[in-house]
Amino acid sequence: MGDKRIPLIIDTDPGIDDAAALSLALFSPAVDVRLIATVAGNVGIEKTTRNALRLESFMGTDVPVARGAAGPLAGSAIVADAVHGKSGLGNWGYEGEATELLIDTPAAQVIWDELLACEAEGCKATILTLGPLTNIAILLREHPDLADHVECLVGMGAGITHGNVGPLAEFNIAADPLAACEVVESALDVTFVPLEVADNALLSPADLGELASASRTGAAVAEMMDAYASSTELAGGKQVYDPTAFCYVVEPQMFQVATCHLDVTTEPGEDWGGTHFDLEGSRGLLANVHVATGVDADAFRRWFLDGFRLCS
Ligand code: RIB
Ligand code: CA
Repeated sequence: MGDKRIPLIIDTDPGIDDAAALSLALFSPAVDVRLIATVAGNVGIEKTTRNALRLESFMGTDVPVARGAAGPLAGSAIVADAVHGKSGLGNWGYEGEATELLIDTPAAQVIWDELLACEAEGCKATILTLGPLTNIAILLREHPDLADHVECLVGMGAGITHGNVGPLAEFNIAADPLAACEVVESALDVTFVPLEVADNALLSPADLGELASASRTGAAVAEMMDAYASSTELAGGKQVYDPTAFCYVVEPQMFQVATCHLDVTTEPGEDWGGTHFDLEGSRGLLANVHVATGVDADAFRRWFLDGFRLCS
């Protein structure tokens, strides 16, 4: 064996920041990406799946892709095409698709099979979620002992002090609050990397210029982010949410983390999808998640750009 890389299953809704995280992961020496599972989120399932295949065709990688859930466990789907464009990848024009990588089995089943394959090799896979948690909730419903077969789950999601689709509702949670609630209430070792982390580790215009010249893939992601930047630019720079979650998988020491109780609002109403972290422990409830509360912003930006220099 001797392979020290982290076996990784990525569940994703590409999505421009997903594309950045996937690029970094597929060329990182620290992880062995075993599977890319798609889920409806930023755009519909056919587009998120096509985008995963487009990205792998462009990068020349060969990680299997499995199509996942087309919508939430309950309620109606929401999308973020106002942020990511109708295609989901901004105005990126690349048309190739690595269709040969698409497995004709639902993602939840393929994730399960990959978890067991990892265990047969003597290791346990980490699951990185970059979109709504629907696939993971489906997997939990089919395999209540899922936590015994997973090293941990790291997810971009939630907001501690604010949301982006509601006062305390972040998109990945609000797109399927019931799924998020079932994941949080499971025995899975869950760490959320919330909005605040990326909001405090903005990429400057100079960083985006360096991204464009880092590699052919960096130039492609920079092109996608031109569209993304126009709708999500914060004063002083650009946040990239999904790469912060992948960064936590491979460089957790860059982050400050708390362990606490999290409640997800699943009742319809103005707090639909709201996340309520009890960081002070004032509710006297058992802790059920870890949550990143900060990151060394300069170290993250250096890691991000160094990672794109490793890409094709
Ligand atoms: O709220 C940001 C998250 O929602 C990111 O994962 C983005 O890609 C969207 O999925
Ligand atoms: Ca995403």
